Amino acid sequence: MTLEQKKSLALFLDRAAALLGDGYLRPGESFDEPDAADGTVADGTVADGDTTGAGNTDDITAAAVDTAAGDTMEGIAADIRSCRACPLGTGKTYAVPGEGADDPLVLVLGEGPGQDEDRTGRPFVGRAGQLLDRMLASIGLRREENCFIANVVKCRPPENRDPEPTEIAACAPFLRRQIGRLKPRIILCVGRIAANAALGNAEMQSIGSLRGRFYPYRAGPEGPESPVPLIATYHPSALLRNEDLKRPAWEDLKLLRSRLDALNPRRS
Ligand code: URA
Repeated sequence: MTLEQKKSLALFLDRAAALLGDGYLRPGESFDEPDAADGTVADGTVADGDTTGAGNTDDITAAAVDTAAGDTMEGIAADIRSCRACPLGTGKTYAVPGEGADDPLVLVLGEGPGQDEDRTGRPFVGRAGQLLDRMLASIGLRREENCFIANVVKCRPPENRDPEPTEIAACAPFLRRQIGRLKPRIILCVGRIAANAALGNAEMQSIGSLRGRFYPYRAGPEGPESPVPLIATYHPSALLRNEDLKRPAWEDLKLLRSRLDALNPRRS
């Protein structure tokens, strides 16, 4: 059997298993037990063949991401820290610009800093963050090595409330600059707020309806599409509250891994 035939068979079996309700997260598998450290997924996942996002970030259009010559991640972080464009900027302890690799495969996008993040200035450091790290590790990703972790809003909304649309809009230029600078291969949105913000949805849609497929990243409701593929899944906080969501989240992560492997097998 040729490699291509093996890949087709693996893809067929994988999809058949999902269709029959077996899903990807089999008994004994969990985010606590990552697959192979080299990034391969243990059960033979192959590229999913999705064609919705080009994934060639060399083509990133300047309008969809804000690219300015000489813009640096440090410069963007400094601008975030001094920003007072919305009330969150005055209420915070520390702004949380984000952290990770300079040349990431994946930009992970959350909602906004919580209490632990506000106290430390670092993204996803609480319980949800620890689970996020395990989710990434399960598909061979690590925040320091090949991911950048950021949020839609960079300052903590009080009492962990959802960020207001005006606050998301005020912070959006920072995200566009970060994406323009980082040129991630894929954007992974965790949770409803991040997914709707990154897709530029005027009407909020449920994460259940958005997850499980790729979209082209879009910077704001009026923003043009960029060729960076985006996939959304459940927020790790939701997985902590509801174990049943781990299986579909795992399916989403495997789709992401397949797309990464198809885009850039040498780097991942
Ligand atoms: N939840 C988020 O969405 N972002 C964080 O940084 C932490 C928790």
